[in-house]
Amino acid sequence: MRRLSQLDGPFKALVTMFTIVLSCGFGVAHLYLHHTVDRADGKEDLVPTARDIALHYHGEPGTTRFRTKVLGSMKKYFSAEEDPGKLTPEEEADHAAVLDWDARGAPEAEYWDPATKDYAKIGNILLNRGCFDCHAPDAVGKGSKPKSPLDTYAGVKKFATENTGMSTGELLMLSHIHLLGMGLMFLGLGFAVALTSFSARLRAGVICAGFASVLLDIGGWWAVKYGGANWTWLVLAGGLLMGAAFALGALMALHECWLRKPPPDA
Ligand code: HEC
Repeated sequence: MRRLSQLDGPFKALVTMFTIVLSCGFGVAHLYLHHTVDRADGKEDLVPTARDIALHYHGEPGTTRFRTKVLGSMKKYFSAEEDPGKLTPEEEADHAAVLDWDARGAPEAEYWDPATKDYAKIGNILLNRGCFDCHAPDAVGKGSKPKSPLDTYAGVKKFATENTGMSTGELLMLSHIHLLGMGLMFLGLGFAVALTSFSARLRAGVICAGFASVLLDIGGWWAVKYGGANWTWLVLAGGLLMGAAFALGALMALHECWLRKPPPDA
């Protein structure tokens, strides 16, 4: 059986360029993850955390993002002192009114008059507590969030709605694209790995790990969607295995192309 090291320059160029382009693909995929899944919990981390993954695919059944924020990191803005532990009775009442409104499905008429768009009770609370200083399309202040405007009913309603995570349709689309794309990717890399001179066991192991990681990752998305946060380890394990299998396979192929002396019988 011929090895990569015995093949012509064009084959080596093919394998090398293929691994370079795929590595770029991995890099861009990581940036994209950083942009979407990774920010699901409002915090930016270097890699998606288990909580990001659970929020992205599973959502927060039985609650809304608005509620989570008003109870959590946004509670302090109800306080004149910006201290969530020091709400005055009046501030507590506003906080409770907003939560109660959310729990009743966030009816529009309590936010503003649907015809005139004059703020009603809830709109006025958000206005007076300074939420729109940061949550308006033209907010520019430090730490503002203009991409999540709350100064219109449609803007708030987007968050005051049960968060059910990714829809089945979206997940089906994402799954088939990834199964086909990653399958072909590991097919290409697998050919190169199979043509190296490493032991048959190592080559088979790396090839199987690549394909298995795709199944683990995508199976994990579905498990998290329906099973919840207990399954995020599947997605994390799939992602780690995928990165490791790809990196190892690419290094094996490049080593075979450029660093290994062709066997003498060539
Ligand atoms: C000083 C600026 C600032 C003020 C004032 C502020 N927020 Fe925020 N808000 C942010 C930032 C930054 C985030 C994103 C980080 C986070 O989720 O904790 C955010 C996130 C949110 C989100 C989630 C939006 C998303 O895209 O996921 C909601 C809902 C929210 N805030 C509600 C409120 C409410 C209600 C008030 C008023 C009581 C308020 N905020 C006041 C800066 C602000």
